[in-house]
Amino acid sequence: MGLIFVEETKSTNAYAKSNIESLKDRDVVYTDVQTNGRGRLGRTWKYLGTDNIYMSIILKPSDKFHDIYSNLTQYLSVVLSQILEEHGLEPQIKWPNDVLINGKKISGILCETVMQGHDFKGLVLGIGINLNATTDELSAIEKPTTSLNIELNRTVDKKEFIQILLDKFFLDYDEFLGRGFILIKDYYIEHASFLNKKISINILNNVKHGFAKGVTNYGALIFDNEIITIGDIL
Ligand code: BTN
Repeated sequence: MGLIFVEETKSTNAYAKSNIESLKDRDVVYTDVQTNGRGRLGRTWKYLGTDNIYMSIILKPSDKFHDIYSNLTQYLSVVLSQILEEHGLEPQIKWPNDVLINGKKISGILCETVMQGHDFKGLVLGIGINLNATTDELSAIEKPTTSLNIELNRTVDKKEFIQILLDKFFLDYDEFLGRGFILIKDYYIEHASFLNKKISINILNNVKHGFAKGVTNYGALIFDNEIITIGDIL
């Protein structure tokens, strides 16, 4: 694994995608200045200063795409939640992969599949974590948002946190590739913020109201009597 620092980039995900040929499996790209961060479902990811995490993990697990890869964002959300618990916090996960503290979002995860024609080139698993942000900066974000320094009442060391996150991610990564979501299902369900509640979900710009009944063995949301694989709980 190589840790690659880029001083400034539009997006670590975009950087990794355009350099996919030269980047190796398990390389990691991170930056201090991300000017055009990408979010899920076409959204943007706000830049909150140099001391926050903007990072992409390059994964080349095989020559072909397997469905299990879609659950890597949920695996990463579990890894981050476990670390936050080790810091004495009580994280929750909002389907599919937002990590919350006291109902406020602390990180965002976006996995992009890189294809060249029909050839699968790899995955770029991006994560942004609010590590050291001010309440002023966070108040500019529409949704309730928090940062680790605010929750812990102290500054958090970025390099150290990145290392802890990567060590924990790769600890069970191979097992995850073998077993998939079932490996993390119990933890995910125990920490789910949305289960057994009335929720509103945006599915491809169509907002539906219903009941979050459960999560399948493949990480999909059981919403009323539908199985949802793409969407956003509002
Ligand atoms: C979301 O919650 O919508 C996902 C946000 C993902 C943001 C991270 S920051 C590092 C990486 N590079 C990007 O452009 N996006 C991801």
